[in-house]
Amino acid sequence: MASVPSLASTLQQQLADALTAALPDAGTADPLLRRSDRADFQANGILALAKKLKGNPRELAGQVTAALPAGELIQDIEVSGPGFLNITLADKAIVETLAARAADPEGRLGVPVDAAAGTTVIDYAQPNVAKEMHVGHLRSAVIGDAMVRILEFTGESVVRRHHIGDWGTQFGMLIQYLIEHPGALTHEGDAADGEAAMSTLNRVYKASRALFDSDEDFKARSRDRVVALQAGDPETLELWQGFVDESKIYFHSVFDKLDMEIRDADIVGESGYNDMLEETCRILEETGVAVRSEGALCVFFDDVLGPDGNKVPLIVKKTNGGYGYAATDLSAIRNRVQELKADTLLYVVDARQSLHFRMVFETARRAGWLNEDVQAVQLAFGTVLGKDGKPFKTREGETVRLEDLLDEAVERATAVVREKAEKVGLSEDEIVENGRYVGVGAVKYADLSTSAVRDYKFDLDQMVSLHGDTSVYLQYAYARIRSILRKAGDAVPAAHPELALAPAERALGLHLDQFGEVLSEVASGYEPHKLAAYLYQLASHLTTFYDQCQVLSPDNAPEVVENRLFLVELTARTLHQGMALLGIRTPERL
Ligand code: ARG
Repeated sequence: MASVPSLASTLQQQLADALTAALPDAGTADPLLRRSDRADFQANGILALAKKLKGNPRELAGQVTAALPAGELIQDIEVSGPGFLNITLADKAIVETLAARAADPEGRLGVPVDAAAGTTVIDYAQPNVAKEMHVGHLRSAVIGDAMVRILEFTGESVVRRHHIGDWGTQFGMLIQYLIEHPGALTHEGDAADGEAAMSTLNRVYKASRALFDSDEDFKARSRDRVVALQAGDPETLELWQGFVDESKIYFHSVFDKLDMEIRDADIVGESGYNDMLEETCRILEETGVAVRSEGALCVFFDDVLGPDGNKVPLIVKKTNGGYGYAATDLSAIRNRVQELKADTLLYVVDARQSLHFRMVFETARRAGWLNEDVQAVQLAFGTVLGKDGKPFKTREGETVRLEDLLDEAVERATAVVREKAEKVGLSEDEIVENGRYVGVGAVKYADLSTSAVRDYKFDLDQMVSLHGDTSVYLQYAYARIRSILRKAGDAVPAAHPELALAPAERALGLHLDQFGEVLSEVASGYEPHKLAAYLYQLASHLTTFYDQCQVLSPDNAPEVVENRLFLVELTARTLHQGMALLGIRTPERL
């Protein structure tokens, strides 16, 4: 059996059974098992149960203790205080469970695959065509990528959708400009150069905007061009495709920098739902979900009111007949539910779009596209702030270019790596590669380690710090273990359940055992920050372990050396797996 139940879950089950045995009429009662400082675990649930049954809690605690099966799990159990149970597990049970995790033939560290897993369509990393990506797009990409990895690891089928902004009125202006300035999109140098692609797009965008704002005739021609685009005029579509292709070159260059795989097949932008818009509106109107109001097709909500107290509708079709963001999102829901067979729709989108999604989801529920079997969730994220606590901008007040930010992170990280490089014996190539992994990791980790919905400060000094809750700290923890394993020579990691464990070994071991439970919580609540917190605690336990327990000391008996190697090796694998699920690399030598 590959999947290994945690000690906590086994203990929880034994306690629940003992409670039922001691009190057959209590029904199913929760022993409320928690990690504790006094022992390994404390069970607090007996108190409430005794109160409910008007019994004596200490007496009941004694009965529960007596009803526990004899076995090798528990080393010591005592009734304390008004009726708590303090439970210490046997060292042997800890090491044996960890050994089973280490021996998992599938290399999953004993983490189960969720048997009830379904299909999630995740909407993330959705920049806009012909526009620069900003830090908000970074957050969606980083959090989304981590969620894809975590969900897939727990057994979910995941369909990725990059809902890029590739449709809308601004394309009329861009295409018209291109028609009147042929060749404006061709840029010099390498055709695959993302930065060159973006600067060309920027130039075209600015020039066409200026013309649009100053020249009424151009404006009119641009509007006609939108109509031609929506009508599917081949020449117009071809030019539009040019903008999309050029933008994709740029997107891919940024995602590559982020060390993130974005597949073309998963890029289904707003334009991808164009053919569905009319039908979506027709269904909404026929079912009465949407109504005509001042010429527009609208959906109203009792609890969405403007400052004047009037209802603010979701507009699915504008007065001029145009479709907007909402019509596209509603059509995408139909596609994702009906064609892609999703039972969960997950949207990794800025919290500032929460009202939009609340209205879109409610509309979809009224239309029956969402129901008890198909849920939609927005994994909303907060704003990236500068050191001054205001939304992150350059000194000139412009949005920060993502590439600049990543380049700077990598540069800073490379300096940090270089400082230790000689001691570790890194080659120049390794310094460059590690600098990249540390720099990109720092940016990702900073984003992932606070609860997504909170704003966070983008502070590179803090992000590449070796101390504290940073990815570099975790990467060093991993590399240090790898170094010990290389130094171990003939000694190989091997579990020795017969050995008594030191307190720091127990603490490390019990934490390692929680990996699967943490992952399942992270996956079901869409909370990657809890995985980051778990990994940080793991590295902290490791630090304490090093302080208190020597691994390769000549004073250690061979089996102690092997057992400690076993513990740190499992720690390394857990760190590596956990970081990989966050999309962060762990170099072997640092
Ligand atoms: N492109 C949008 C933006 O830059 C994000 C798209 C979010 N996803 C969606 N299905 N609406 O803000």
